[in-house]
Amino acid sequence: MRQARILTALYFILTISPAISDMTDSIEMMWGNTQVLYDSAGHQIMSLTLDRWTTSAFRSKSQYLFGRFDIDIKLVPKESAGTVTTVYMVTEGPWQYHDEIDLEFLGNTTGEPYTLHTNIYAKGKGGREKQYRLWFDPTEDFNTYSIIWNLPMRMYASIWNAEDWATQGGRIKTDWSQAPFTAFFRNYTANACVPYNKAWICGQGSGDSSWFNQELDEEGQQKLKDVDDKNKMYDYCTDSRRFPDGYPPECASPVEVIQQAYRKGGEGVKH
Ligand SMILES: *[C@@H]1O[C@H](CO)[C@@H](O)[C@H](O)[C@H]1NC(C)=O
Ligand SMILES: *[C@@H]1O[C@H](CO)[C@@H](O)[C@H](O)[C@H]1NC(C)=O
Repeated sequence: MRQARILTALYFILTISPAISDMTDSIEMMWGNTQVLYDSAGHQIMSLTLDRWTTSAFRSKSQYLFGRFDIDIKLVPKESAGTVTTVYMVTEGPWQYHDEIDLEFLGNTTGEPYTLHTNIYAKGKGGREKQYRLWFDPTEDFNTYSIIWNLPMRMYASIWNAEDWATQGGRIKTDWSQAPFTAFFRNYTANACVPYNKAWICGQGSGDSSWFNQELDEEGQQKLKDVDDKNKMYDYCTDSRRFPDGYPPECASPVEVIQQAYRKGGEGVKH
């Protein structure tokens, strides 16, 4: 977040008072079977549907310099094996150098738990998978998922089929007799810097930029540790078969990474 703090000083901060806005103000449909619905309070809900013939997706209209992105998702209920519902942030520009942050929700057979599969690409290189078994039913109601990041990126969401690998290692295939499969999204909030002419305007949305300095406090770190202990099923940082010659540097604890960087006389450390 150090970079974020420096950038705040460079850009003009404009605070706009919070307004209830429609998701269609900030989201554009990309392809497939998408719908805009309304809940009883008049708030927009967007749906993405997968069937045998089409996947579907939407994305943010804007690109962002950095920010905090929240979205509520209600995943495909019951028989959802083979389906993958995603929210991800991607940089623009040449694909072979792109950065990306992925949250992928892997469906399952009825009654079996969803898996949250995460990945991070830096300069075109991914392979940083982690998997968590979700400890709540993400299909019963909307839950809020958030990403905080500090590179120019656009938000995307999609639903697609990955029956060759997603569910129980690909053993369970999609049951197309249960199609269409629909996931619902609502209350997309980008508290972020957006491009304006040749500069960026920061502090839109709720005008609350507390995420700028957000780090996990002790309680947050403990929660993360509990989830790691109880729910983590896979972590590339402990997969010795993939890295017989040692793990990638980011697998060390942040403190070690910082120490290494100083030892190397390294430049600034981003985290
Ligand atoms: C699906 O359920 C099985 C059995 O509980 C579990 O092993 C698996 O990790 C779950 N998730 C996926 C995506 O296969
Ligand atoms: C929408 O999201 C914002 C930010 O996450 C939250 O403060 C607000 O309560 C949410 N509104 C609804 C109607 O859920």
